[in-house]
Amino acid sequence: MVPTYVRPPPMFHKGEGCYLWDVENRKYLDFTAGIAVNALGHCDPEMTKIMYQQGATLVHTSNLYHNPWTGALSKLLVEKTLEAGAMHTASKAFICNSGSEANEAAIKFARKVGKMVDESGAKHELVSFHNSFHGRTMGSLSATPNPKYQKPFAPMLPGFKYGTYNDISAIEDLVGPNTCGVIIEPIQGEGGVNVASDEFLLALRKRCDEVGAVLIYDEIQCGLSRTGTLWAHSSLPKEAHPDILTTAKALGNGFPIGATLVNEHVATKIVTGDHGTTFGGNPLGCRLAHSIVSRLSDQRLQQGVLQKETVFRKHFERLRKRFPKTITEVRGRGLILGLQLSGDPNPVVTAARERGLLVITCGTNTLRFVPPLVISEEEIEEGMRILEEAMSVVFKEQTPVEPTKGQEEMQDS
Ligand SMILES: Cc1ncc(COP(=O)(O)O)c(C=O)c1O
Repeated sequence: MVPTYVRPPPMFHKGEGCYLWDVENRKYLDFTAGIAVNALGHCDPEMTKIMYQQGATLVHTSNLYHNPWTGALSKLLVEKTLEAGAMHTASKAFICNSGSEANEAAIKFARKVGKMVDESGAKHELVSFHNSFHGRTMGSLSATPNPKYQKPFAPMLPGFKYGTYNDISAIEDLVGPNTCGVIIEPIQGEGGVNVASDEFLLALRKRCDEVGAVLIYDEIQCGLSRTGTLWAHSSLPKEAHPDILTTAKALGNGFPIGATLVNEHVATKIVTGDHGTTFGGNPLGCRLAHSIVSRLSDQRLQQGVLQKETVFRKHFERLRKRFPKTITEVRGRGLILGLQLSGDPNPVVTAARERGLLVITCGTNTLRFVPPLVISEEEIEEGMRILEEAMSVVFKEQTPVEPTKGQEEMQDS
């Protein structure tokens, strides 16, 4: 294996619901859901059934032929998006195999629209934001201005510009006549669970309209009901809706699949041969995703997500009182939540794992909570008990007192 990841000791071989088991049969409660992927939990029986049935019927034909499921999934994604009050212009979908690929398609589509609008080729610039994460392929990486990811592979693609998330005053200079597209996560996942303000997204949309750029929402991590609505931007007025919406992760609940939803303004600029994929849109993945999208758009599931957020937040508040110097902020919405720590969260991650709870980090010293959406309140209670114990062994008990001069610099662990 090319050493692209450092992995801790457990080797997982089995999963069910919100639990994983390692090869020594130790059980772990999973607050990570494979990085916001297993929204319906591990080895969901309905998915297993579909995999078996479709696996015995038809797995792959390539995009040179029709199959019943690529169109059905595309239609469902558009219908459910419209029903949810999100992206009111959604009209077509391109199905691929991952989040990076969904964004790669979005970037290419934005460039194509730019070319069609301005034949000189000058309208090719793409704008993205600091602390964003859009993927590892050269296009999506060029939109991910993290030096750690970009530097080893420089130079990036030409024409990418980066702005500050939520800085409305900078938009006018950042997005100009040469901008063909702006890509943004309505909630940044990897970057630290940072939520874009409604005003910022409205201002971006307005500026995109002024200069004729397409607006791309990357909802690969925050979408598909993780915030309690189908898309994180569902609650925004249509004046803040995107031209392109990308999704992946929970779309396959672990089966690799992604999708790029576009409106007619974009779709009419794309012609046969402009883009393609061998595996994308295969009947197995599309039938699975069709069932998953139907289930994740259920309003009872979405209400459950909001109730579970309340349970998490109740515990976070208690932990904040117990570790006032360590926990500085709680961020996020629904079941994409972040606890900002003042120091390194990795010892907590290790101590929690050793006690049977999986949590991950993001941004700068942030603990990230992206559990399966089907997690029960009892499981949240169980996980939070383990987290508290892990924190209490890593950080000293702290008394909530006003810091006196000089104390601010003190380390908690
Ligand atoms: C917001 C966002 N966009 C894109 C990606 C890339 O997706 P993938 O790893 O499936 O290529 C990720 C993955 O973490 C993500 O969180």
